[in-house]
Amino acid sequence: ASLARRDYGETVDDVIANFPWWFASNFRKYSGRWNDLPVDAPLLIVGEAPGAEEDAQGLPFVGAAGQLLTELLREIGLDRKKDVFITNVLKCKPPDNRTPESAEIAACLPLLYRQIEVIAPRMLLLLGRIAAHALLDRPDSIAKLRGTPHVFRGVPALVTYHPAAILRNPEYRAPAAEDFKRVARLLKEENDHGASR
Ligand code: URA
Repeated sequence: ASLARRDYGETVDDVIANFPWWFASNFRKYSGRWNDLPVDAPLLIVGEAPGAEEDAQGLPFVGAAGQLLTELLREIGLDRKKDVFITNVLKCKPPDNRTPESAEIAACLPLLYRQIEVIAPRMLLLLGRIAAHALLDRPDSIAKLRGTPHVFRGVPALVTYHPAAILRNPEYRAPAAEDFKRVARLLKEENDHGASR
């Protein structure tokens, strides 16, 4: 069974406001996207970490990788402004955009867990290795993890290539588009189930 929705009496704004930010006192607070889509986004998308553009705007996936993500969503009929909640494993930009260190991931994970609990999405889409490895127990490559649904705390989770990786490796574009079609199918199934819950 998936997480009960709206059980917590807490909004995503409360999560960020109440979170003990001292846990990462060397991090500048990254607001991410908290306000537009509170508790009822059916799809929660998890990336790696904000980059320079995201850091400047305080929004996830607004640079080049974000444009590709927007396009992949549009191809399956989803509007990123209405239908999805997008966040990152890391809530702050790592220096020089380097890959997050495991201590940084561990520091930010409790916040991601709370977001998932409070939003209680119908499904998760994990973009790239950092997000997949943060939430799934299998340390496999994306090539192995993609294609079949996994489960995080009762919530179905699909894995695909990170949009930045697709930009560097155009051969990932077609398999990623297939993965997004899987997202659309699974979301429809979950919504059909949900309607009778
Ligand atoms: N890459 C990520 O993983 N997240 C963003 O928000 C932007 C780029």
